[in-house]
Amino acid sequence: MATELIVVLDVDTAEEALSIVDATEGCTWYKIGSQLFTRCGPSIVEAVQAKGRSVFLDLKFHDIPNTVAHGARAAADLGVGLFTLHASGGAKMIARARESVEGTDTKILAVTILTSFSDEELKSDIGLKETAAEAVPRLAKMAIDAGAHGIVCSPQEIALVRQAVGPEPLVVTPGIRPAWSSKDDQSRIMTPAKAAAAGSSMVVVGRPILNHENPTEAVRLIKEELAG
Ligand code: C5P
Repeated sequence: MATELIVVLDVDTAEEALSIVDATEGCTWYKIGSQLFTRCGPSIVEAVQAKGRSVFLDLKFHDIPNTVAHGARAAADLGVGLFTLHASGGAKMIARARESVEGTDTKILAVTILTSFSDEELKSDIGLKETAAEAVPRLAKMAIDAGAHGIVCSPQEIALVRQAVGPEPLVVTPGIRPAWSSKDDQSRIMTPAKAAAAGSSMVVVGRPILNHENPTEAVRLIKEELAG
């Protein structure tokens, strides 16, 4: 299956978000995170969907299983195609979330270790004895076995995650930069073509599209790269 493109809507207002949707013709998927959702609420999800597009709701749920199950059902009732939870919430939490979206078209993505963590911080702040390279595939396998449909990870981790979960689950990767764009504050980046070749199902791209003088052209270029 061809690798899909997800455009990031990390802005403060519905007007800005919808103007990005209008300016990125040919794109199906949009990621709404805590910034836009906290400012605008469910109505921004509905407004993007009303334009015939699909929403990835990136709120990274992490709570007791009952609470996450109800949050997951709320996301499914809102009609989002994808939403995130933290794998570190555990197998019971993930299994309850999966049960509560059964029969809907909503899919669950598990976040393993946030890429902002260094191995030192995992040890000092969280008390984790593993490095990220050890924890990521372990958490990915646990999450998929518990019922997650896919994993969010850095493009550098695609091979590790694919080894752990096999070819079927979705692997969704931010940290993507086409050769023609600026790195911004991302450090461990990969081009869309390389991420697709490494096994990414969907690439998440923000600033290279939003800061391009012609976002529709940026989308066209990225989709061309993804198609090989
Ligand atoms: O503008 P840019 O393409 O860097 O946006 C990437 C998006 O992916 C942002 O919404 C960012 O918060 C998110 N993200 C990331 N790295 C992660 C997890 C999420 O860049 N490890």
